[in-house]
Amino acid sequence: MAVTILIGAQWGDEGKGKIIDVLTEQADMVVRYQGGNNAGHTVEVGEDQYILHLIPSGILHPGKLSVIGNGVVVDPLALLQEIDGLQARGVKIRGNLYVSDAAHVVFPYHRLLDELREQQKGKGKIGTTKRGIGPAYADKVARTGLRMGDLLVPDRFSEKLRRKVRETNDIFRALGSKPLSFAKLNREYLAAAKRLKPLITDTVTLLNAGVRDRQEILFEGAQGTLLDIDFGTYPFVTSSSATAGGACTGAGIPPNRIDRVVGVMKAYTTRVGEGPFPTELVNKQGEALRRAGREFGATTGRPRRCGWFDAVVSRYSVMINGINDLAVTKLDVLDHLPKLRVCVGYKVGRKVYETLPHDADLLQRCRPIYQEFDGWMTPTSHLTEFDQLPKRARVYLRRLAEFSGARLSIVSVGARRSQTIMV
Ligand code: GDP
Ligand code: IMO
Ligand code: MG
Repeated sequence: MAVTILIGAQWGDEGKGKIIDVLTEQADMVVRYQGGNNAGHTVEVGEDQYILHLIPSGILHPGKLSVIGNGVVVDPLALLQEIDGLQARGVKIRGNLYVSDAAHVVFPYHRLLDELREQQKGKGKIGTTKRGIGPAYADKVARTGLRMGDLLVPDRFSEKLRRKVRETNDIFRALGSKPLSFAKLNREYLAAAKRLKPLITDTVTLLNAGVRDRQEILFEGAQGTLLDIDFGTYPFVTSSSATAGGACTGAGIPPNRIDRVVGVMKAYTTRVGEGPFPTELVNKQGEALRRAGREFGATTGRPRRCGWFDAVVSRYSVMINGINDLAVTKLDVLDHLPKLRVCVGYKVGRKVYETLPHDADLLQRCRPIYQEFDGWMTPTSHLTEFDQLPKRARVYLRRLAEFSGARLSIVSVGARRSQTIMV
């Protein structure tokens, strides 16, 4: 496996957590490189379900190292809550989890700003997870953020935080919102720092030592390609580089050390939050997909918007990420459908688009051009070999891979580890 990047090829929630969990079997280290606790990665182990937000899904495998890289934004209180939750269920954290000293810190003022901006946008809102992700990355880029390493130097931390709270309180007052108390924040964060201290380290050196020693390293993307700050449906995106390139800058691993990119995609499409979604089914069929796929957000619980598979999107994702291997998830959700559709291009008036337009308004006007497939109408969730799948399911999967332009390597037919077919 060597150094593998796993990314979401659609709008998030593709089942990355499940596939990471399966691939972690062969990994030594699992690394998050972007995003924050806006992510919700579900892993089912036997009868137990875990939802991970900040901690790599690899943590559920004893003896594997989990790393939160410099490109992640970390809410220390949320991280501690996640650690406590996992420890209470018997997951060992100490010695298994490290956090980059260069990762930026999320503060309550980021969450508040996130919320206020969404309120101000009204109908044009993004539908964020309200975890403060956008404002935290904005501070990073504006060079006014605090990093996890700052938590280790209390005096300097307090000084920086005091300045930052003063600045943000001016904004809150202007927006008619209540100012925050520096003293309370300072106390809470320094208490968190004490607990997190043993975990905060130079993960860049740690990871590069792993690369040098030919360890198996697995990068766990959060969100998806279409939510990437540059390549997604801007402005309806998240604020980080969710695509494969983000793994290099978000962890400090050079591009020429990457061996493989795995793209995870559902056998249909979902999206949470606002923004264009050409194949969305705003009808009974969409509702039926949501019900069959249990499509409710793992972080916010919001119902996910559902639609047909979009090959324009998957082709674009293969191109941007350099995907070698495709993992197609949730095939079983389509088991009962007599007919399936796949979008192979878009139309606006008479103009046909075979690639994804970057303009969100234009994408909003795109109408899908569909190819129809016969459904297999037989259960698949108990199958373990590709050849056991019904012929029509195999045809559907093969066509998805051909449309996308990458090799079909994994098919997932259920949430459990055992419900995974290696092709
Ligand atoms: P992630 O954010 O990409 O990790 O995906 P989420 O965990 O947010 O959403 C994927 C959901 O689908 C979770 O509830 C998984 O347990 C579930 N899931 C993953 N793979 C499969 C599959 O092949 N079939 C079914 N039915 N559910 C799956
Ligand atoms: P995982 O890793 C699906 C969406 C939000 C919103 C937009 C911006 O589980 O796939 P943000 O809070 O990031 O500023 O919100 O991005 N979003 C996700 N959608 N899965 C996710 O993560 C998401 N993380 C953010 O719904 O539309
Ligand atoms: Mg998710």
